[in-house]
Amino acid sequence: MNSKEKLIIFDTTLRDGEQSPGASMTRDEKVRIAKALERMRVDVIEAGFPIASPGDFEAVQAVARAVRESTVCGLARALEKDIDRAGEALKEAASSRIHTFIATSPIHMQMKLRLSPDQVLEQAVQAVRHARRYTDNVEFSPEDAGRSDTDFLCRVIEAVIDAGAGTINIPDTVGYNIPQQFGDLIRNLIERVPNSDRAVFSVHCHNDLGLAVANSLAAVMNGARQVECTINGLGERAGNAALEETVMAVRTRQDVFPCETNIDATQIVPTSRLVAGITGFAVQPNKAIVGANAFAHESGIHQDGVLKNRETYEIMRAEDVGWNANRMVLGKHSGRNAFRTRLKELDIEFASEEELNEAFARFKDLADKKHEIYDEDLQALVTDANLAAENEFIKLVALKVCSETGEKPQAGVTLWFGGQETRVTASGSGPVDATFRAIDSIVKSEAELQLYSVNAITSGTDSQGEVTVRLEKGGRIVNGQGADTDIVIASAKAYINALNKIIEPGSRAHPQV
Ligand code: KIV
Ligand code: ZN
Repeated sequence: MNSKEKLIIFDTTLRDGEQSPGASMTRDEKVRIAKALERMRVDVIEAGFPIASPGDFEAVQAVARAVRESTVCGLARALEKDIDRAGEALKEAASSRIHTFIATSPIHMQMKLRLSPDQVLEQAVQAVRHARRYTDNVEFSPEDAGRSDTDFLCRVIEAVIDAGAGTINIPDTVGYNIPQQFGDLIRNLIERVPNSDRAVFSVHCHNDLGLAVANSLAAVMNGARQVECTINGLGERAGNAALEETVMAVRTRQDVFPCETNIDATQIVPTSRLVAGITGFAVQPNKAIVGANAFAHESGIHQDGVLKNRETYEIMRAEDVGWNANRMVLGKHSGRNAFRTRLKELDIEFASEEELNEAFARFKDLADKKHEIYDEDLQALVTDANLAAENEFIKLVALKVCSETGEKPQAGVTLWFGGQETRVTASGSGPVDATFRAIDSIVKSEAELQLYSVNAITSGTDSQGEVTVRLEKGGRIVNGQGADTDIVIASAKAYINALNKIIEPGSRAHPQV
């Protein structure tokens, strides 16, 4: 008989993850990620902050409609209008949760909210009561709990549990805590709050000191039974606790943890790749679990040891976290049915036969250039098509580059922009530089290029290159992505995608402001 308690995995990639500068996702991208999280058997998916913008509302609504197995959660400040918006967005969810929060640290109460502790407590209680009108699954977070007074936290937590909160989430909002102290805080709260047995204690740790996972695990050792985390550790500033690290630590060290998760770990690597591809936040090669080198042994001594017995240097098996998912799935001779079936298995569906036909034509085009098509190629193909469809203001019509030893590279670009087609030629220090200069001479965006990166989607020189471009203008940061077997074309696509976003008006509210 299994005597272990359950550790609830609450994924906030679609909410806190999206707060990483430039990581915004479209509604359809959020649905694709949510479906991957559901396949991974994540317990709760925080899909967004519905009051932030109409786009956020629609995304939460779409995720609520699409996901059936996981609980879908929406974030709301402790304000009636936020909670009403979250309740409305979640109406069609099979299982919904409203997550409401208000800051409890002296600095946040005084400087940000300008409220007294008693006013904060009252607002928290009212918010939880209001949220209970929509669902009996209400989570409350005292924001910046990691810097709050413990006595005050105890008062607030007791009151919100009485008001109907079933989950109490303790955020280390600014990533200030260290493991021993954070673990003690959780144990203390559970021991001191008289009605703590009526709620699940959760933690939400940020990674400013690189301690988000360590703090979360210390909390679990001290009674927390929900961890809030994100794929690849994405999130505000230095990010949140990484889901893959948290889950694999608990799973690998079952000798020390008194609980276990329900996660299907084989979905970790495919989901990590999907999130990296969609957000443009590439995973560093030495990142635990999901980095390209996480299971690669370079030193001869290690290689020799692993060949004799893998446990000499490996504490986990690469295939257990989904590393063998990188298999050839389709090729040049695959038919429309095989294509449709594989996409369906990846939860990619098309609204019409026409869209499927277009995607199939793109697939054939790719298969002509690249013999083996992997799942990652299919994901990139669909992401790339979605991105191109999103490009409202500027579209790439044609690109010709000329690069020769001893000569300055030249790029001839034709863009659709401002209702007409324009062709220009520019030179640059390399073909990508020449292409960006040509594009800029038409668009005149005045945006500053902050980041340019290229990643091979799969192995081999025929791999598609996935390019991320980050632009900044007037304090606003956006990421653009593009994929192609030709990296100059991929770069042009990524630059144009970022320019479309930076030109687009409209801003969204931020939960912490
Ligand atoms: O970091 C934080 O405090 C948050 C809350 C909204 C839970 O993201
Ligand atoms: Zn956060």
